[in-house]
Amino acid sequence: MQNFLSANDIDDIEVLAKEVLEIKKSPFQWKHLGENKTLVLIFLNSSLRTRLSTQKAAQNLGMNTIVLNLGQDSWNMEYQENAIMNGTTAEHIKEGAAVISQYADMIALRSFPSLTDKVSDYQEFVINQFIKYINVPLVNMESATVHPLQSLTDLATIREFSTKKRPKVVLTWAPHIRALPQAVANSFAQWMNKADVDFFITNPEGYDLAEEFRGNAPIIRDQTEAFKGADFIYAKNWSSYEDYGKILKSDFDWMINEEKMALTNSAKFMHCLPVRRNVVVSDGVLDSPQSIVIQQAGNREWAAQAVIKRILEGRL
Ligand code: CP
Repeated sequence: MQNFLSANDIDDIEVLAKEVLEIKKSPFQWKHLGENKTLVLIFLNSSLRTRLSTQKAAQNLGMNTIVLNLGQDSWNMEYQENAIMNGTTAEHIKEGAAVISQYADMIALRSFPSLTDKVSDYQEFVINQFIKYINVPLVNMESATVHPLQSLTDLATIREFSTKKRPKVVLTWAPHIRALPQAVANSFAQWMNKADVDFFITNPEGYDLAEEFRGNAPIIRDQTEAFKGADFIYAKNWSSYEDYGKILKSDFDWMINEEKMALTNSAKFMHCLPVRRNVVVSDGVLDSPQSIVIQQAGNREWAAQAVIKRILEGRL
């Protein structure tokens, strides 16, 4: 079974990023690949970009698409084995996933972490329960620890906008009012560590990402130091991995603003969106020509198409 769960499922991420940009030039020439095939997109959480871009990508390849907001359009799912289902859950993953699987040639799943149970989240309990009980390929549309369709998009966007073969890319923590998953940051770090870039992370004490994702990337505590000479600034908030799921820092001195961007090598500003203006990043940066967040979001379609296409061709 060819699942797309993380960067570890791809032999050469740079080759796949090139495919993304090739598809962008001429997206409608593979309509035959998905004919009479159905992608079921299951959402356990809210989504704008992933929902629309993945659906559109599948349709570009000739697939039918069905979107299911699990627990809203359908019954609440129980994931625990041997559960006594006398509470709020009405359908067990054993039956639910197996039934969905019969209507689908491919399943795409969006699920978030609990941010309370680190072990379960980092073992990817929910997505692995789906994988256990389906018999078609699964595409990860963001799970507890990673967001690979976003990261593939990010790499392709860096290649599209870079004037250098090996740009300096900085992942910076930024403030937020809510405790957010580490998935986008983990995933970006995982992909950048495999990419042909000079990659740095800047985050406050207590916000170091899990070693399995940050790898050997240098962590620079001084955000302004990290920004110097950067070609790409990738901003994202994440809650603490060490003090799991907690917000440790509530002041806004880590917000990205024009003064900080002026330290860079006219860096492009990236963010996965949605973004809270004047909390994560100032209006001045987001509305400047340096911001490529809209183009980045646009590339989500071609990244999803590259992955689905490879699965349909049996060559992921
Ligand atoms: N970046 C991203 O995944 O956006 P959505 O949550 O809107 O899908």
